Amino acid sequence: MKGIITIVSFLLVGVATAIFIGFGNSFSPEPTAIDHELQGLNEKYTIKFSHVVAENTPKGIAASMFAQLVKEKTNGWVEVQVFPNGVLTDAQGEFEALKKNKVQMIAPAISEITVHDPKWTVMDLPFVFENEEMVEQAFDGRLGELLFKSIEKYDYKGLAFWENSFKQFTNNIRPVQEPVDMQGLSVRTMPSPLLLDMYQILGAQPQSFSFNEIYEALRNEHIDGIENTLSNIYSKGLYQQQKYMTVSNHNYLGYAVLMDREVWDSLPVQHQNSLMEALDEVATWLRKYAKEHNKDMLEEAEDSGSLEIHYLTENERDLWKEAMKPIYDKYEPIIGEEIMGEVRKLQADR
Ligand code: SIN
Repeated sequence: MKGIITIVSFLLVGVATAIFIGFGNSFSPEPTAIDHELQGLNEKYTIKFSHVVAENTPKGIAASMFAQLVKEKTNGWVEVQVFPNGVLTDAQGEFEALKKNKVQMIAPAISEITVHDPKWTVMDLPFVFENEEMVEQAFDGRLGELLFKSIEKYDYKGLAFWENSFKQFTNNIRPVQEPVDMQGLSVRTMPSPLLLDMYQILGAQPQSFSFNEIYEALRNEHIDGIENTLSNIYSKGLYQQQKYMTVSNHNYLGYAVLMDREVWDSLPVQHQNSLMEALDEVATWLRKYAKEHNKDMLEEAEDSGSLEIHYLTENERDLWKEAMKPIYDKYEPIIGEEIMGEVRKLQADR
């Protein structure tokens, strides 16, 4: 008898527990009003974030910092998993991976974005920005807004601009001071049509392939030179394979953090706000850090003496700008009057 009482007691406790824990909600009355901002907040979200550079670069650190901030701001309900060094795919593959929902966030160099939205070519125009402050005004102002609006047409959601620095030329053949010095050099670029045209106009032979293939291409002498930021040149040891560097600041390597528009729209508003807050905090930190880091890398290049460094003079810069005029003739109509108008305003204000 005692045994039967024990078994019945266990069953009753079990049923009561199941009702309380397992089926509790099915007995709850429907809420009279649904707070849409809170919908989806008891689900865990995972965001796979792919990028192609090393973890110790400005973008690499920014991505890790972003993941940590998102964890804190959402109490762990949104987990950002960062995949650096192109371990999942290269920069162009990231766009496809985003569309197939294999990754949910990317931060490609803007030159990679120009392949998908030609209006973004504005950021690749050679010598268009005189200094970092102008680039920041472009990102923070109407020009940045227009770029994000434009890319929505292709179903991407632009969330933030992240900074690296101006690009410099390096090569193994000769010091490059004037445009004529580029003749015959084979140079790796990102796949931006404007960049490919730019090197062709200079009489060089541009080749486009992914960032993580550069070291081998230099080592095997498949190419003579590259254009990149000091941070990228150093983090991948590319300087070890090069003899000459021209501090040309000829165009800016910046990034845009992108998601697929539908995936972004499917996130609860409260999580969207947390992600935006985290991105803003990271962008503010990165703005300062990227400048300092690239400056430190330039000092290191000077101190090491492993590269012969030439700084473009004002006169030489004018020669380059003159040589680049056909690029403006070709790409201004593609970029369009509205965005070019913003560029002219920035140039007039400086
Ligand atoms: C990057 O900074 O994301 C890579 C740039 C490059 O491909 O040169």
